[in-house]
Amino acid sequence: QPVYLKDYQPPAFRITHTELKFDLAPSNTRVTALLHLERHPDSQPGLPLILDGEKLSLQRIAIDGQELQEGEYRLDAETLTIEDAPDRLRLETEVEIDPAANTALEGLYLSNGMFCTQCEAQGFRRITYYLDRPDVMATFSTTVIGDREQLPVLLSNGNPVERGELPNGKHFATWEDPHPKPSYLFAVVAGSLEKVEDHFTTMSGREVLLQIWVEPENLDKTEHAMRSLKAAMVWDEQTYGREYDLDLFMIVAVNDFNMGAMENKGLNIFNSAAVLTHPQTATDAAYQRVEGVVGHEYFHNWSGNRVTCRDWFQLSLKEGFTVFRDQSFSADMNSAPVKRIEDVSYLRTAQFAEDAGPTAHPVRPDHYIEISNFYTLTIYEKGSEIVRMLRNLLGWDTFRQGSDLYFARFDGQAVTIEDFVGCMAEVSGLDLTQFMLWYSQAGTPEIDAHGEYDYAKAEYHLTLRQRTPATPGQPNKQPLHIPVRIGLVGTKSGEDLALTLNGSQGKQSLSEGGVLHLREAEQTFVLSDVAEAPVPSLLRGFSAPVKLRFPYGREDLSFLLQHDVDGFNRWDAGQRLAMLALDDLIAAHRNGVEKVMDVRLTEAFRGLLTAPEEDQAVLAEMLTLPSEAYIAEQQPVVDVDAIHAARVFVKQSLAVALRDEFLAIYQANQSDAVYAPSAEQIAQRSLKNVALSYLMSIEDERGVELAQQQFEAGHNMTDVRAALTLLVHSSRSDIAEPALRAFGEKWAHDPLVMDQWFSIQVTRPQPDALDRVKYLMAHPAFSLKNPNRVRALIGAFVNQNRINFHRLDGEGYELLADVVIKLNKLNPEIAARIITPLTRWRRFDEQRQALMKAQLERIRAEDLSPNVFEIVEKALAE
Ligand code: ARG
Ligand code: ZN
Repeated sequence: QPVYLKDYQPPAFRITHTELKFDLAPSNTRVTALLHLERHPDSQPGLPLILDGEKLSLQRIAIDGQELQEGEYRLDAETLTIEDAPDRLRLETEVEIDPAANTALEGLYLSNGMFCTQCEAQGFRRITYYLDRPDVMATFSTTVIGDREQLPVLLSNGNPVERGELPNGKHFATWEDPHPKPSYLFAVVAGSLEKVEDHFTTMSGREVLLQIWVEPENLDKTEHAMRSLKAAMVWDEQTYGREYDLDLFMIVAVNDFNMGAMENKGLNIFNSAAVLTHPQTATDAAYQRVEGVVGHEYFHNWSGNRVTCRDWFQLSLKEGFTVFRDQSFSADMNSAPVKRIEDVSYLRTAQFAEDAGPTAHPVRPDHYIEISNFYTLTIYEKGSEIVRMLRNLLGWDTFRQGSDLYFARFDGQAVTIEDFVGCMAEVSGLDLTQFMLWYSQAGTPEIDAHGEYDYAKAEYHLTLRQRTPATPGQPNKQPLHIPVRIGLVGTKSGEDLALTLNGSQGKQSLSEGGVLHLREAEQTFVLSDVAEAPVPSLLRGFSAPVKLRFPYGREDLSFLLQHDVDGFNRWDAGQRLAMLALDDLIAAHRNGVEKVMDVRLTEAFRGLLTAPEEDQAVLAEMLTLPSEAYIAEQQPVVDVDAIHAARVFVKQSLAVALRDEFLAIYQANQSDAVYAPSAEQIAQRSLKNVALSYLMSIEDERGVELAQQQFEAGHNMTDVRAALTLLVHSSRSDIAEPALRAFGEKWAHDPLVMDQWFSIQVTRPQPDALDRVKYLMAHPAFSLKNPNRVRALIGAFVNQNRINFHRLDGEGYELLADVVIKLNKLNPEIAARIITPLTRWRRFDEQRQALMKAQLERIRAEDLSPNVFEIVEKALAE
């Protein structure tokens, strides 16, 4: 029973103020709600009052102090209906709920004895009867009652106003949130927690108390999150003019959490994996993730909370914009080109795959069955790319004006994507009507580019042809408005040539920074005064989320690799060069022909390893070959084994040919400095560990020795994990097993480190990986009830161990289906996510298709949650 965007109706009632009381107990928590309701001025008179509520046991209901009798209201599994509600009323309900039985982690649940909530998108209806939709915004006053010993800390949104003792060993705390908010931003936390505190003074002089609440053993893991929070607060003031608006800002770390974190007003709740760090337990990547997620949730205070979404179809309004903001923040804190490379790599593998599969959907979907299934890469990452395109089309200053207008005009409101884009159109004078298609059209656009240099006229003719492949339910696509940032690099000078657009196409078509506005299905741009033959550098900085093809020769790519001033495109030239070599090797593998290494690739790498490079972090990226997932995306039918073999062959060939160079890089980047997650140190470590991975790929004595030394020296988790991974992924159990055992024993007490231990083992290329998954599922540190464990063990295996997951005996598929069937009952949201690789069955050979499809059918035969049902139906649809 899908919900449709076109059916949107404003609510019949609004809630001006919400008073809640929680009497916490693990299996029978009492929630009392007093809702100040009134008819919405725009609604039709006489509509019934229909509240959402699920898994609630109603104990009492009263209107304006009068108890309702049976017959005066109606209950079903999802709603509470009152037919003749007055125009203005105070509705009081009392319900009982069972947090201890809540394994879905939606609503109020228990995690390690701690009570916590997750209300987005529709978890609040599992707490109390309510108008659980984002366009109903109320001020909240919340009293939390709990056992004084077990639950010394009682938190909710806003400011603490009162606390005190109660009989029977209980105590209470009352919180008031003055900012009207939708129910999805509500939060309660209660437990035996400890805090670290800091302070921030906002640009207008408001003193804000900052707190991070954790379990006592994690108190030494909060420093980086706190530093990131303060950096994010400064950044949002300086970059977007946004200031914090309460006297208190809290972050809480919880162990059981479905996603990364949640932006509840004044009380952000985080997956412990997205907030806790320590040099000995967290890698550089984890530090950067924490910085990004802390920023993301903080930035939501404006893009999401102050201005929120009218309905869940508008989800990308807050998520796309906020991801764009957190990406920019991280870029400013670290190496900007590397951040872009990472984000684009992720988009081009995972999001492009989503866009090409059965669950493809527009950034603003027009219908859904289960909204939890739409917290996707398309909504988040492609949504962010759309906002970035607006920035590219408008230029930063105008974009910022549009952002200011948006926040000023819609503060305190629940709005739509049109409202956001409308502000951008208004400040820029651009017609963004065609641009809006980015929100309604699914699929990844493909651009075929073709260039010709006219020596006599000193002109360069660039023809761009765009097309978006059909996606489920959208057979025909329209041309999009695409910003294509370009440069022409002179083959003589090696420098960027000035860009002048010729003729009638006008100023509209080329804006600041070399951005061409592609609007037609096919368009030729004539660039004049091009004094020397150029190599075009196209889609600089990945200016639009498209696949761009251009018939680059290997010489062109080597040239761009050396001369392009755009760091992203320089990296991309290297990736394209590697792809040409990989394609040949994949074909050779398939045809049973001897594999021959492309010497031009070897020489390009030699150049990278020996020429001085300013940005060491970019260099590390350039030395990293395209992932198996990315290579797979480029193939019409994915050949798992050929991809793996070709990639290993290239890696080993490079290692043999450039062994001394890799060794020199390794040694040059050794350091005894005290660990810091600084851009410089991170760059050094990644470069060093890339070099080590080449040395270890041929498993020669020196490589093994260095990996073992690095593992044993144990300077920090980045180095230890890199070394351990190489040892465990090697073909030698005599070096893998002792290291694995030592690590497992050392860290048995730390679940986040054990997650890494799980992932490392189940991603090894050796054929025993699947048996290890099965064995580890019975390990005491594993639990299907914890999403982090599931991702670390099952998720890592099915997504990052392609040759073993896609075993021809189908055991990988069967294992995943078994897990999905169990999770379907325990945690439907996670079940519907972990199933993803099976849904991509059409991309593989017939034999694998049949095996995967059989497992999907086995799942379909179960009694399915709406979450898994929606995904499986799409996956099996004709
Ligand atoms: N708004 C949160 C974030 O992006 C994600 C919440 C997702 N919740 C869910 N049940 N899927 O920061
Ligand atoms: Zn978000």
